[in-house]
Amino acid sequence: MSDRRKPGAARSEGPSYQDYLARDTNAVPPTLAEHSTYLGSAPLEASRYTSQAFFDREVDRLWPKVWQMACREEDIPNVGDVYVYDIVGKSFLVTRVAADEIRAYYNVCLHRGRKLRTESGQTEDFRCPFHGFTWHLNGSIKSVPCRWDFEHLSDADLKLPEARVAAWGGFVFLNMDIDAPPLEEYLEVLPAHFERWRLEDCYKAAHVAKVIRCNWKVAMEAFMESYHVIATHPQILPVIADANAQYDILGRHVNRNLTAFAAPSPHLGQGVTEEEVLRGMLNLWGKPGSADELLGDAGGDPGDREPRRLLGALNRETFRRAQGGDYSAVTDAETLDALVYNVFPNFSPWAGFAPNIVYRWRPRDCVVDECIMEVMILKRVSEGASKPRGVPMHWLDEDEPWSAASELPILGPVIDQDMSNMPYVQDGLVASANNEVQLGNYQEIRIRHFHQTLDEYLTAAS
Ligand code: FES
Ligand SMILES: [Fe+2]
Repeated sequence: MSDRRKPGAARSEGPSYQDYLARDTNAVPPTLAEHSTYLGSAPLEASRYTSQAFFDREVDRLWPKVWQMACREEDIPNVGDVYVYDIVGKSFLVTRVAADEIRAYYNVCLHRGRKLRTESGQTEDFRCPFHGFTWHLNGSIKSVPCRWDFEHLSDADLKLPEARVAAWGGFVFLNMDIDAPPLEEYLEVLPAHFERWRLEDCYKAAHVAKVIRCNWKVAMEAFMESYHVIATHPQILPVIADANAQYDILGRHVNRNLTAFAAPSPHLGQGVTEEEVLRGMLNLWGKPGSADELLGDAGGDPGDREPRRLLGALNRETFRRAQGGDYSAVTDAETLDALVYNVFPNFSPWAGFAPNIVYRWRPRDCVVDECIMEVMILKRVSEGASKPRGVPMHWLDEDEPWSAASELPILGPVIDQDMSNMPYVQDGLVASANNEVQLGNYQEIRIRHFHQTLDEYLTAAS
């Protein structure tokens, strides 16, 4: 039996993602090599998305054990800056306590349990609004009204409990498990892969959030495959190599997909010309007028007129003009493609050099069928400039579409198409006749991988 006939070895017709990389203008980093594998074909239980009991096991066994991205370092650039991070009923005060030290306190007064803060912001200390217990930024007790009435509690008893904190790529992570492995170990190959893309040199230029009426995994998994493009985003088929995207399992916590833009979908066969691809991509970017100029300036060699090469060159020049710096060795792929990494359980940074998209999905409080989806855009800090403070989160109302967020000009309308499925996926999972969800062996392997890791956490001895 040939490899192609093994389960999970079947692939789309047309060029592979590696074929696109082979035609890149510049040398491609080895980190973009293929790492596919086969993880099985069994159905998933629909109740993983709908059952309160399953959700409660996630609350008990998943969220307290994992490193989770809480905020960006530039959200709290100054001593006294606080970011409130909430997850399944827990709440943390992620606080810059010194220029080079960030701590995450449980956001709970040690007196009678009021939340110490409900909003991110700036403070000199943490004063509980109920009776006035007050803590220093370093978590030690500062003052207690009528201290004589609490002679049974020492200063040590009154120290604010903390979660563990670590940073990578300009992101601040926390973990409630004091025995968890260090963040660097948890992130596996991620830091090595992103060394080239240096997200720590970026700042958060956009941050949009919305409550979605579906389980957090339903929303997340809609962004883990390009298979849905044919039905959900058909208008971009001329410019996205969807069915021939690459899916890689890179460790227990890390997977990714690499989807080429400025290349037509295999679903369209040979029916799209290179010029149509070029014009389609520029239209998507809101620059329709640039096509004639690019084609006019291109050399006579057919390779010089390939859309990915023309647009790669255009992007390198645009980035250099906008930010300074040398982009001459950056690949076309790194300026164009969806290089989408996921870190278990709920964090997804895009790689490459275009403004980097970052996704996060969280349950809303402890509600099984509602979640918060967040989209951030990281931009490179211009050469010689200091890093700006991260923008505050922009909440969309229940009835507001993502396209109402002007800071997501290309992405907003596309995400609205994704959102048009979410509540109906949730409803359908509840209505399921056989409690089964089926996955493609290859294009949905990241979803299977996620659930296999999730099962490891849910069944681990606590
Ligand atoms: S609950 Fe905070 S001071 Fe009483
Ligand atoms: Fe989508």
